[in-house]
Amino acid sequence: MNPSAGAGMNQDDLEGALDRAIDHLRRGELVAFPTETVYGLGADASNPVAVSKIFQAKGRPADHPVIVHIPCDSHLEHWARDIPAIAWELAEAFWPGPLTLILKRQPHVSALITGGQETIGLRVPGHPVALELLRRFNGGVAAPSANRFGRISPTSADHVRQELGEGCDSLVAQIVDGGASQVGIESTIIDLTTGVMRLLRPGHIRPEDIEAVCGLRPLVPEERSCDVRASGMLEGHYAPRTPLRMEDESFFATDAIHRKSDASARDWATIRLFPYQGAIVPQDTRLERFLPDCPELYARKLYLTLRELDQLGVHGIVVQAPPETPEWRAVLDRLRRAAAGSGPAPK
Ligand code: TXA
Ligand code: MG
Repeated sequence: MNPSAGAGMNQDDLEGALDRAIDHLRRGELVAFPTETVYGLGADASNPVAVSKIFQAKGRPADHPVIVHIPCDSHLEHWARDIPAIAWELAEAFWPGPLTLILKRQPHVSALITGGQETIGLRVPGHPVALELLRRFNGGVAAPSANRFGRISPTSADHVRQELGEGCDSLVAQIVDGGASQVGIESTIIDLTTGVMRLLRPGHIRPEDIEAVCGLRPLVPEERSCDVRASGMLEGHYAPRTPLRMEDESFFATDAIHRKSDASARDWATIRLFPYQGAIVPQDTRLERFLPDCPELYARKLYLTLRELDQLGVHGIVVQAPPETPEWRAVLDRLRRAAAGSGPAPK
């Protein structure tokens, strides 16, 4: 394993942390671990008592299915049946990586994992620490994002600690620190159970990337819809507590926002776009943040920025809307969910 993978931990500490994590998982306890997308809250997927603790720790309703993380695609058939050829193709092309495949489940899979459905979500994560954990465990680890139900997913070990705690006073036995998640938003989810390939959740891997590999483009739901798209997709409000709304660039150019922030500077925080290449990077201030005009870099910092602004106690967060282009699909999806889930935004 790349020794620099667990940022903030040297190789010996990381070895020790992984050994303890395996022990905890085998004893049916919860372990939070890094992935390239966001941190996961993991339990032994073959132990329903362990999996039930995930729901308790997150405050998550029991009918929401969780993704099972596996070390490599040779574990697929243990969890899924009737696997279509395209699933193998996508696994070959994108695993380890930020892609979750929804397949028909094997009969032994706990209803807690599937939310009572006939399907299961599977993924081989691309983070070296996650992969090493899974290889040593040599089994499936059920893991949703390691946040309280409905809140923003954590992209660092500290975020998990703030949300769920760690150790004796918490249901989380251990948090394995792997540094900041590099993708920063949750995996792309593709449903392969109906004969028509569908995008259930946009992410870093885009429908265009999938089409380039297998010649087929997944069906993309109505872009503007904030509605529930598939059963189990209700946990859609990756929301800060502070009301959030999106405005286009002209809003920030007018005096209105400036007058408002001058008059009551504590009432507003903003997230603006800055041109990614060749420009002088504007200075962040406490209330004004700038994220790069590049979807990958923007996604990497989005949840961290929302978390920081959420802690300021301002009345609202106004986000400059990114362009409505396929490259921004995943970021726009998360911003819309945040806007929908965070209550009425100030006008
Ligand atoms: O990037 C990710 O996918 C992260 C990391 C930890 O892997 N995990 C994650 O898990 O975001 P979670 O539980 O927060 O979101 C998983 C989504 C949920 O919306 C869930 O409803 C959906 O995947 N899902 C899981 N299994 C499913 C299934 N069998 N059918 C349909 N949707 C499913
Ligand atoms: Mg989640």
